Amino acid sequence: MADRRPRVWVSQPLFDDIVAQLEAYFEVVPTVEVTAHSSADITARLGGVDGALVTLNESVGAAEIAGAAHLRAIANVGVGYNNLDVEALGAAGILASNTPDVLTETTADLGFALLMAAARRITESERWLRDGQWRQWSFTTMLGADIHGATLGIVGMGRIGQAIARRAHHGFGMKVLYHNRSRLPVALEQDVGAVYTGFEELLARADHLLLVLPYTPHNHHLVDAAALAKMKPTATLVNIARGGLVDELALADALANGRLAAAGLDVYEGEPQVRPELLALRNIVLTPHIGSASLATRRAMVQLAVDNLIAALGHGPDAGHPASAINADAVAAAKAGGVTVRGKKTDLDKR
Ligand code: DGY
Repeated sequence: MADRRPRVWVSQPLFDDIVAQLEAYFEVVPTVEVTAHSSADITARLGGVDGALVTLNESVGAAEIAGAAHLRAIANVGVGYNNLDVEALGAAGILASNTPDVLTETTADLGFALLMAAARRITESERWLRDGQWRQWSFTTMLGADIHGATLGIVGMGRIGQAIARRAHHGFGMKVLYHNRSRLPVALEQDVGAVYTGFEELLARADHLLLVLPYTPHNHHLVDAAALAKMKPTATLVNIARGGLVDELALADALANGRLAAAGLDVYEGEPQVRPELLALRNIVLTPHIGSASLATRRAMVQLAVDNLIAALGHGPDAGHPASAINADAVAAAKAGGVTVRGKKTDLDKR
């Protein structure tokens, strides 16, 4: 007999044992191999389901939901959701969610690892050693910059920024400056040991600068040639947020010409492509978007996304109220007003 339960699409292979929990409520349409889904493919998949579990690889906007007459929920497996057009989803009455909190500490660890690896030239040293270039110990080999006692600038003081500030201040005796859309309450600033400054001042004073802010079209190339020119030539830049925040060609130029000492990148403008100008540099550490990639944390992210999807589609203990919904207000407003999307005005509650 045909399965008449709601259908959900899982856009990438995740953890089978966790994803299997969806089968208690839904017919699951899995993806068995890591796939670069085209927009047309995503559109076709969403057209046949009530909900979807997606990752940062899948961009979902007005075009992809245009024919998705039954789609009610998108659960993003990730805290950053610049892959979702939240406004379009909200207007269409589609409840979107993400996976905050569970990845905070793991991602902060990676930010710190990149900072230390870049400033202390860890991967560069290893390549040099493996290449057989270590013929004689020398006092001046691979001199880098100190982490302890240095001034760390953090752009973006959300949960991950705060976790990095704690490590820096309490663990490494760093002076921590931060810039954020809004200033933290004073008690929280004191707890994480961070002092608010303007962006320009942060650029000028930081010995190491770490980007942890959400990417939006408004902060595209926030760190461009002009910003890089304001940084100390001895400084390190680390980006664990999204590639679009940094003008990569300007960064490569600054690193190649001694205007910036080192960089660590986990994210790229054209992921998974990495510019040859970056690959050619010795003074940059490059990792393949592994910020949250510890086994425990990636499992926790999938569990939260599964729970969110079950709840968003009206099941489980949090039925109707996924723990980390992004656009609940917009969805409520769309339901109250009738929804204008996907070609025609509909009444969500009658679907
Ligand atoms: C996120 O959650 O936004 C990360 O970048 C994905 O690991």
